[in-house]
Amino acid sequence: TRTKVGIVGGGPAGLLLSHLLSKQGIDNVVIELRDHETIKNTHRAGILEQQAVKMLTESGVDGRVLAHGDEHEGIDLRFNGESHPLNFPDLVDATVTLYAQNEVFIDLAAARKRDGGDIRYESEVIEAADLKSDTPKIRYKDVSAGADPDVVHEVHCDVLVGADGSRSFCRRAVGQEQGHQDFKIEYPFAWFGILTEAPKSSPELIYANSPHGFALISQRSANVQRMYFQCDPAEKTEDWSDDRIWSELQKRVDGPDGFQLKTGPIFDKTVLGFRSFVREPMSHGNMFLAGDAAHTVPPTGAKGLNLAFADIKVLFEALDSFYATGSRELLDGYSETALKRVWKAQNFSYWMTSMLHTRKDAHPFETKRALGELETVTSSRYGQQYLAESYTGWPHA
Ligand code: DHB
Repeated sequence: TRTKVGIVGGGPAGLLLSHLLSKQGIDNVVIELRDHETIKNTHRAGILEQQAVKMLTESGVDGRVLAHGDEHEGIDLRFNGESHPLNFPDLVDATVTLYAQNEVFIDLAAARKRDGGDIRYESEVIEAADLKSDTPKIRYKDVSAGADPDVVHEVHCDVLVGADGSRSFCRRAVGQEQGHQDFKIEYPFAWFGILTEAPKSSPELIYANSPHGFALISQRSANVQRMYFQCDPAEKTEDWSDDRIWSELQKRVDGPDGFQLKTGPIFDKTVLGFRSFVREPMSHGNMFLAGDAAHTVPPTGAKGLNLAFADIKVLFEALDSFYATGSRELLDGYSETALKRVWKAQNFSYWMTSMLHTRKDAHPFETKRALGELETVTSSRYGQQYLAESYTGWPHA
């Protein structure tokens, strides 16, 4: 196949780029390893910045995010057993929308199907070649049932986009000797995530710091809730009965106000490891990385999907300009432009993570210092605004 833009990865970033390009009449092909059903059932994050919502609605993806997304006016920072509400409209004139990432995927996939997009699921990329040439190539195998797995298919393009997630094949196709640098830190904890059939415990999301570790009380709908608690990365979900999970979560939100979580049957349990990672630059010749393929953030600031969409905005505008005028200027500036926001989001996510989590081996000074930081943020309008501005999202470039 010959196309203009070859996109590896059919998650939200790859599909949104494909959608935007097609609207401008720029041919593209998306190669995705997993099948539609698998991606649809992969539970990820849930918070969209207003700008991310706009990218979906204004480009005509679907109005489902408006109809089914839940607008949130703030979050609750809970520490020392007390709740400290932040009100985003009051602080920074913005809100966020709770709309699960798999719903975003469903809408984008449906829009591509509706508009005749070329999305090749169950296609395993085996080579990304000639990245520095005018014709980068993707070689892949069709791994769907009944296909011949020995036949190698090729997509030749002008520009190759790696939107293939944190274990990105495209990123790894660039060798160590090729002048890039990876920046990475690991955390000594993970999140234990659950989905439960229960009513909402609180109108807003609760981010809790406690002596037992972090907890996040999030939501999915009136009768399905999403919650997480900080755990050891080696924790096994089999070792956690519903009762044990509920008592662990409750301990982390306990306080003199007597706040009680509303419980119910738990139908999904996952241990989610995380890290902070950035690949620089986010391009190599005519290959451009976007979203988790180029950077991952810890989940505490809800920035991952939003950051991927911000990359796509910059990259789409660069590609649009390239095809309209022939000028490479914006494409050549893509990495530098995108990385400014990436490092702001890295800083915010690292900050939220370290302020809210407790290290097992933490020095008591460090634990007290983090509480001092939470007190500083919540007792000052400027402090609250700093957090609210970052959480709701800086203006797109
Ligand atoms: C959710 C996940 C996050 O990482 C976060 O910061 C807020 C909400 C969620 O899955 O609902």
